[in-house]
Amino acid sequence: MSAIDCDVLVIGAGAAGLMTALTAGQRGRRVQVIDHANKVGKKILMSGGGRCNFTNTGTTPAQFLSANPHFCKSALARFSPGDFIEMVERHGVAYHEKELGQLFCDVSSKLIVKLLVDECHAAGVQIRTHCAVEKVERGAEGFRVDTSQGRFQAASLVVATGGLSIPSLGASGFGYELARQFGHEVLPTRAGLVPLTLSGKHQERLQDLAGVALPVEARCNGRSFRNALLFTHRGVSGPSILQISSYWQPGDDLRLDLLPGEDAEAWLRELKRTHGASELRNALAERLPKRLAQRLCELWLPDKPVRQLDERELRAAAATLRDWPLVASGTEGYRTAEVTLGGVATDAVSSSTMESRRVPGLYFVGEVLDVTGWLGGYNFQWAWASGHAAGLAA
Ligand code: FDA
Repeated sequence: MSAIDCDVLVIGAGAAGLMTALTAGQRGRRVQVIDHANKVGKKILMSGGGRCNFTNTGTTPAQFLSANPHFCKSALARFSPGDFIEMVERHGVAYHEKELGQLFCDVSSKLIVKLLVDECHAAGVQIRTHCAVEKVERGAEGFRVDTSQGRFQAASLVVATGGLSIPSLGASGFGYELARQFGHEVLPTRAGLVPLTLSGKHQERLQDLAGVALPVEARCNGRSFRNALLFTHRGVSGPSILQISSYWQPGDDLRLDLLPGEDAEAWLRELKRTHGASELRNALAERLPKRLAQRLCELWLPDKPVRQLDERELRAAAATLRDWPLVASGTEGYRTAEVTLGGVATDAVSSSTMESRRVPGLYFVGEVLDVTGWLGGYNFQWAWASGHAAGLAA
């Protein structure tokens, strides 16, 4: 069988794979990108509600989870949000900051995919979709990869197949299997940036609040995120919950401050002084969604006029508002998760080039690695930065 010969074969035409390909192509490397999906960059297209939150101007290593928190530092330092913004501006893609440094396209995520594909074509990169990998072997002359579109022979092989989130978009465990094939450890994976589910009495107490949203501070395992929470039919979602979900595992204590940034005890004391005749549920409804205020007073707080709260009750009510326990039973899983935590262990991968320390010429980039960002453009920044690092080396 005659093989398609190239210098760099990238498996996965997502954010990290395309960035690796265009960077290597710009260096004059002959690059082929293959993907089993019917089109490239499907997650980019779907991201940010169709407007792709393509980076975060405040990116630092502190916004990433990994068994080795130092691993992401080198690549992030060498390809910054500013470097990607420069590409976005050069291609005339209009963008805006939504909040907290999150940059979104004004018009459509399609423009980010187009930018990457245009850069790939300008650099002579060939991209093939509908291309399923059947077998990967390593010989004296590099990697031999058998696919549904024939055999590829490459000096460098880049694994850019992403995580397990959203299988309907082409996600597969292929990258993990390939890593194991070449002797790499794969750390246990789980869904991250994902809605949490409630069950039993915890669900019964809250499920009719579906649709209610409010700002909270969600706290778990020493982390806290202040942002919106949304009650759903199955549990809770919204940015604060998605963020904390990456730090939560079943059985962990999860608390919500329902009046973030406010001293609940001081507020209740002031209320007692100025509006003592008000029912607590009505007073709370000035600060919280009415249905939630009502439910809290039915189940967790004294349902009476504020002036009747004695000192012990007032302090207990403040503590409940500040530290409301949310007993989640699980997550919505990979079906809706934005990312996959865990993955290819970083200790056998070079943090400056993304090359395997075990198998010369083998690279891992993007989400397949055990590096996961917070919500807010950090995961794409990791894809760009790790792809750039590999593209300079492969
Ligand atoms: P990615 O998953 O993008 O690409 C992997 C590619 O490999 C896919 O094209 C897939 O088809 C291909 N592949 C898989 N298995 C294969 C096989 N066996 N053979 C051939 N090809 C194979 N992040 C962010 O920063 N801002 C945002 O706005 C969002 N929004 C968002 C929304 C939704 C709904 C999701 C699911 C995720 C996000 N994310 C995000 C996260 C972000 O999309 C994600 O972290 C990056 O796409 C990861 O880039 P990768 O290139 O590593 O994987």
